[in-house]
Amino acid sequence: MLKVDLKRINDPKVNLKEKYAKGHSNVYIETYGCQMNVADSEVVVSILNKNGFAYTEDYKLADLILINTCSIRENAEKRVFNRLEQFKHLKKKNKSLLIGIIGCMAERLKERLLEQEKLVDLVIGPDAYRDLPALVQKAEGGQQAINVLLSREETYAEISPVRLDKNGVAAFVSIMRGCDNMCAYCVVPYTRGRERSRKPDTILNEIKELIEKGYKEVTLLGQNVDKYNWDNGEVNFAKLLEMTALLSPNLRVRFSTSYPQDMTDEVLHVIAKYDNVCKYIHLPVQSGSSRILDLMKRGYTREWYMGRIEAIKKIIPGCAISSDFITGFCSETMGDHQETLSLMEWVGFDYSYMFKYSERPNTYAQRKLEDDVPEDEKGRRLSEIIELQNKLSLKSNQNDIGKTFDVLVEGFSKKSKDRLFGRNSQNKVIVFNRNNYQPGNYVKVEVVDCTSATLMGKAINRGGLI
Ligand code: SAH
Ligand code: SF4
Ligand code: F3S
Repeated sequence: MLKVDLKRINDPKVNLKEKYAKGHSNVYIETYGCQMNVADSEVVVSILNKNGFAYTEDYKLADLILINTCSIRENAEKRVFNRLEQFKHLKKKNKSLLIGIIGCMAERLKERLLEQEKLVDLVIGPDAYRDLPALVQKAEGGQQAINVLLSREETYAEISPVRLDKNGVAAFVSIMRGCDNMCAYCVVPYTRGRERSRKPDTILNEIKELIEKGYKEVTLLGQNVDKYNWDNGEVNFAKLLEMTALLSPNLRVRFSTSYPQDMTDEVLHVIAKYDNVCKYIHLPVQSGSSRILDLMKRGYTREWYMGRIEAIKKIIPGCAISSDFITGFCSETMGDHQETLSLMEWVGFDYSYMFKYSERPNTYAQRKLEDDVPEDEKGRRLSEIIELQNKLSLKSNQNDIGKTFDVLVEGFSKKSKDRLFGRNSQNKVIVFNRNNYQPGNYVKVEVVDCTSATLMGKAINRGGLI
């Protein structure tokens, strides 16, 4: 591997053509799937940087193209296969170009990706990224390079991720990996392996570094953050959240994803206690029918979920709540679907992510249950919940008109350079006049108008968390 001046190649001012002419290797990485994949791509670039690779945003300049993939639904995988087709012609022009599939599809499909498609040179699962430099060398030598071993320990604890976002305001920090929940429909336990928590001081050190670099917001990530557990309960999620909140009053703290069965009142009290812990909880319910929840092996009932919502509303007044839904899961009747709609109305979710059930190979549901709701019916039910959610989101946003929020500015509005956008504590996007504010500022913004997706406001003055 070539030795290169890393400081120089990481300098954005260095022209990419110039970098290329210097003759070292460039890696381009494209990320699909959840926030955890986004965080992993930053770990991958960090590992490769230390081994002579510069990061490029232009795949045409790449010597190594990595696609960090998602298997959650069939469509997610289809998108990646389509993208691979597009990259195929690059390989014809540049024989030494290497293409690798990393992440959840690599873990799920393993050697099949090398054998069937012959499109890729490397296949690397989510726990094998430390092996990347060695595998790249192997692939350079013309051999098939694959490592899809899952680990019980790997958390990339001490690796300092290279931030690929451009705003320098908000960052993801992985606090745990894997998932032990085994929901009947879900591939994640198979693609990400067993649940394990990252050592707390490595998490806190990473966040301290972010604060020093000027970051203003972190999102603590895990498939079920409520199961965070270091040293047999010595540090649980509530404690970790509190330790993070105490690092700086100017740092906003978010987290994802909470799990209804495991979310404790202790966590809710920490959220309520600290101004800088955002008043927003993403609490996926999946279905409003206890019968379907049981088939999904979610481990809670409709009533239990409602109890958790009541606890949030009591302990954290003004807390925004969002959810995930799956329509048309095995044997879902119109009655079950109605229960989902009525639960949505009862909670009044501020936002939701909604999906049609997609059967995944080797999951419990695929092995034991029948995927018997017709595709068009799944689609019809999906449209119905989307329509209801739009109404609920609009109502929630209309409720905010006239209120003033502290907004952390993230960047410029897509439509106009004279307008900025940011989020309030409740995770709602607010667009407002620029004045002389900048990304990274806290600004007090009064909401004057809204759509179901966005709040529109006017800046009042410089805000703050303290
Ligand atoms: N760990 C999180 C969710 C991770 S996956 C949790 O349990 O809440 C994100 C969302 O994708 C899930 O909440 C679910 O709504 C959806 N999803 C997962 N598997 C799916 C499948 N087979 N078909 C359709 N949607 C699915
Ligand atoms: Fe999948 Fe359930 Fe784990 Fe979420 S909690 S990642 S839905 S198995
Ligand atoms: Fe997809 Fe893997 Fe995340 S399957 S949702 S990228 S954990």
